Amino acid sequence: MATTPKVAVIGLGNIGKTIVQNLVKGNRPVIIASRKLEEATALAQESGTLVTAAETGDAIKNADIIILSVWFSTIQELFAQYGTELQGKIIIDPSNPIAPDENGGFKKIIGEKESAGQLNAALLPKGAILVKAFGTLGAASLASAAFQTPERSVLFYAADDTTADAVVEQLVRDNGFDAVKVGGLDQSIRIEVFGDLHEFGALGKVVTKAGAIAKLQGAIIES
Ligand SMILES: NC(=O)c1ccc[n+]([C@@H]2O[C@H](COP(=O)([O-])OP(=O)(O)OC[C@H]3O[C@@H](n4cnc5c(N)ncnc54)[C@H](OP(=O)(O)O)[C@@H]3O)[C@@H](O)[C@H]2O)c1
Repeated sequence: MATTPKVAVIGLGNIGKTIVQNLVKGNRPVIIASRKLEEATALAQESGTLVTAAETGDAIKNADIIILSVWFSTIQELFAQYGTELQGKIIIDPSNPIAPDENGGFKKIIGEKESAGQLNAALLPKGAILVKAFGTLGAASLASAAFQTPERSVLFYAADDTTADAVVEQLVRDNGFDAVKVGGLDQSIRIEVFGDLHEFGALGKVVTKAGAIAKLQGAIIES
């Protein structure tokens, strides 16, 4: 990819809209799509000239990196529906495999030792690269902790294929964060909700790169 890879955000809820806002702040063009074209068009119009709305299939075709900011089960539906268009793309998966529980909280909807990243990787369209990213912070922190100074906050990511690492790390920087890779997709569980590197897991907070590295090396992070 000689030129800057094109990014599409599919799904314009809490996470999708925040990523779009961050990319605009980071001066990165983005194609957006949702179930309804009118919704994407309205968001594009209020977001400025860097944002273009498209139907989902066209957004995927016209981008190199596809951020699927939709629920875990919807990712698998999109793999089935747009399997051809997604071939060879870098697919970013922020999903947490959870659903509301009977106590007003959330519960995991896959096996205790399973991760969304590994389950989605098993269904991946041909030649696509799956990157688990943009899911380690809640939407509020993804907005409020972006472009922090003097030290940026961190988004962790995991991927088996290392060929996408540089473009993913640039995408994270253009979102206003530093990227820290935790390893392959077998490490996804650590960066999904309830994981030890998730804001809503044992980590419990937003960290800078120094804090992230200390945590990965097993040190205790001061709050
Ligand atoms: N919210 C958080 O704090 C947070 C944090 C980390 C990770 N995540 C993960 O990020 C993902 C998105 O979460 P969210 O909070 O942004 O959810 P959300 O607010 O419910 O947004 C999901 C969006 O996906 C759209 N959508 C559903 N089906 C679609 C389809 N077939 N094609 C295109 N768009 C479709 C929905 O559109 P409609 O309105 O038309 O249904 C909605 O705009 C989830 O996997 C979640 O686990 C969320």
